[in-house]
Amino acid sequence: MSRHTPVMTVMVAAVRKAARGLQRDFGEVENLQVSMKGPGDFVSAADKKAEKVLFEELSKARPGYGFLMEESGVVEGADKSHRWIIDPLDGTTNFLHGIPHFAISLGLERDGQMVAGVIYNPVTDELYLAEKGQGAFLNDRRLRVSARRDITQCVIGCGIPHIGRPGHEEFITEERAVMLNCSGVRRMGAASLDLAYVAAGRFDGFWERALAPWDMAAGIVLVREAGGTVSNAQGGDDILGSGSIMAGNEMIHAQLGKVLKAARNAA
Ligand code: IPD
Ligand code: CA
Ligand code: CA
Repeated sequence: MSRHTPVMTVMVAAVRKAARGLQRDFGEVENLQVSMKGPGDFVSAADKKAEKVLFEELSKARPGYGFLMEESGVVEGADKSHRWIIDPLDGTTNFLHGIPHFAISLGLERDGQMVAGVIYNPVTDELYLAEKGQGAFLNDRRLRVSARRDITQCVIGCGIPHIGRPGHEEFITEERAVMLNCSGVRRMGAASLDLAYVAAGRFDGFWERALAPWDMAAGIVLVREAGGTVSNAQGGDDILGSGSIMAGNEMIHAQLGKVLKAARNAA
């Protein structure tokens, strides 16, 4: 987008600044990978550092806005209608393993509604952004969800709740059904980028459960502004509160919903 709104300018600047550290640290992880020490603690420090940069930059630019952050939790602001929702490093497992598929995810909520989102993968330099009513973009290119009309021709992204965690068995049931009804399933490991991929038409659809608000906040705006439909995994409106999400173009979203529901009912 050549003309960013003032708030989008603030968001992009904060994300790019935090990303510089993350990218440096990712280079370091690749080195630590081969040492016996392992990069675990290093990664959690990288994560916190990125969040701190975001917090400082956003507090400076918009004093009073509240925060919901993965690492530091809730910071109330004087302005009760605005809240930043932040995942400073989405795709931690990928980052830890030297897999260049992770992102910073920054969403802005206004009066309980997601109104802007930025998702940035510093390794590929892919910056996804969207603001309500302004469209969705990847770098300077306008995004549109895929136009496929039949789920059997679709690539569907998903996330797998760990074995033993809530939602795991339900996922296995659902995934079997989706695999039988589409042309490919992907588990990439960063929910924010999964949603950005739906917005970019790379994935035709996506669903996942047991997510946190910061995994989804920015991606919701991206998908909607790219002309897609997004709901919780049951098809309902409460996404952030439910912790589940389902996205696609209007037709694929509906077909995916049907496949998931039939699988659950048959289980
Ligand atoms: C995780 C990623 C992953 C999803 C997990 C999330 P994190 O976030 O988004 O794709 O399946 O449930 O927790 O821990 O890497 O920020
Ligand atoms: Ca996350
Ligand atoms: Ca994270």
